[in-house]
Amino acid sequence: MSVELHFNGERRDVAPGVSLFEHAEALGINVPTSCRKQGKCKECVVEVTEGMGCLSDRILAEQHLQGRFRLSCSCRIVKDAGVVRCHAMRRGEMRIERGALHLPGGNQKLKLDPAVVRGGDRILLDGVEIDRSTAPIHGLAMDLGTTTVVLRLLNLETGEVIADASFENPQRFGGSDVMSRIHYDTEEGGHLLQRTLAGYLSHAIEEFPVDPRTIYEMVIAGNSTMRDLFFRLNVHSIGQSPYRSITELEMAEGRRFSTSLAELAKKLLLPLHPKARVYGLPIISGHVGADAAACMLAVDLANETRLIAIMDIGTNTELILGNKDKIFAASCPAGPAFEGGAITCGMPGLPGAIERVKIGGDGAMQVRVIGGVPVQGICGSGLVDLLGELLRTGCINRLGRFENGDEKVVLDVNSDAPIYFTESDINELAQAKGANVAGLQVIFQDYGIRFDELDVFYLAGGFGRHLNIESSKRIGLIPNLEDAKILQVGNAAIEGACIALLSRTKRAELEALVKKVTHCRLEAHGNFFNFFVDGCQFHPVETLSIQ
Ligand code: FES
Repeated sequence: MSVELHFNGERRDVAPGVSLFEHAEALGINVPTSCRKQGKCKECVVEVTEGMGCLSDRILAEQHLQGRFRLSCSCRIVKDAGVVRCHAMRRGEMRIERGALHLPGGNQKLKLDPAVVRGGDRILLDGVEIDRSTAPIHGLAMDLGTTTVVLRLLNLETGEVIADASFENPQRFGGSDVMSRIHYDTEEGGHLLQRTLAGYLSHAIEEFPVDPRTIYEMVIAGNSTMRDLFFRLNVHSIGQSPYRSITELEMAEGRRFSTSLAELAKKLLLPLHPKARVYGLPIISGHVGADAAACMLAVDLANETRLIAIMDIGTNTELILGNKDKIFAASCPAGPAFEGGAITCGMPGLPGAIERVKIGGDGAMQVRVIGGVPVQGICGSGLVDLLGELLRTGCINRLGRFENGDEKVVLDVNSDAPIYFTESDINELAQAKGANVAGLQVIFQDYGIRFDELDVFYLAGGFGRHLNIESSKRIGLIPNLEDAKILQVGNAAIEGACIALLSRTKRAELEALVKKVTHCRLEAHGNFFNFFVDGCQFHPVETLSIQ
């Protein structure tokens, strides 16, 4: 008798007595650790999706974890039969193209003007000497998402991209959305979320092909909660109406001139140069954070005369609408469904994820998997494609119900662990879509224009980059615009963070621009609920005028 263990999609038949961490090591899976399995670093978190009953009881070191999350070094298999499925927080190659795509102001055209420069063998930060070295000068940009973290390492003297990395945000054990993280941080104290993330970042930074002490500045884009948590600020006020960052409150009281942040890297537990600075881009307002601000920089909104919209679909979807003269912004609490969270076999867009689905004339499903490795799950772009195909072939109706009365479909991908897609997954996606569509309807209505009056619709985000536009329009995830107006620009937030890292001029331009933005508060809009209900249905989105 043995337990069938599936760890990160790899199978092993195991006997009782050994920890999940040790099984992972035997399978050749790298689980993050800084304490060598002592239960101290809290980095070895795994999510157990099946078979919790086969594991030992929680110990003291795991008290901060709830639900499906365990410390892999601290839980052992204790049964001699059953199935356990778990995965470590995932890491992977970034699927983001190095050059900006379809952006009006890509890095190529940028005049380099970083805050860190060389003067002979002196390294200067804002004109103040912080080191003596003839080695190359590096900077780091980070898009800190609720679900996914993206890093890009740049040479500050040439603007060249040296390396990049991405991983699942390990703070997931504190909840999958920003409200849960705020609650967790407020209840637990001790900056546990920040410390865990700093541990993951340290491993990623140490794997870069440069000496971390040659990294002198880091620029962070992220929603208001993620950014403030990272800077160890109190985030309680972001979770309470009127949902404001402490930096926004302090600015309103005249105690600061900007919502941007600066801190020494070592205070944030990062292994950069001891005098390196971490700069947090300014937020716009409420939940419309520094990631939305970074997107504005990426599309050069300060100099844009056309009417553009940016939709950065994520756990919190950011919406920006306007041009240099008038800008509206909103944040939609969509939840993690389109990033693979809260979906039975969902996962981020990392190797092993199904990213494309096609249903053939014979009803057979053809899938494309990222990275040519064994299938582990299905990511957001795969989910949109799957919904689009199920709708096109009449397998589901516009309410998201299976027409044949089934409760799930199985994607036959020759994997040890079958990939399911259930009606409750469709419900999760419907609600995430409903929030996004309601945000779109509100911001366009407040601005006073129809969808078809737009000149450009930028679909941003790692997820947005890989979406099938036809499927997205069919299920009503994005407005039903002509294809030529829709530009999939990739991760605009990381592009914006890189621009701010390479140019103080652009950084100052953004500091001024965020103050001109009108924040649309979705929760205060009288039609939000009606828009949401309509947006939960799977049909193309047109401008609605619910009065
Ligand atoms: S390895 Fe450090 S807590 Fe498990």
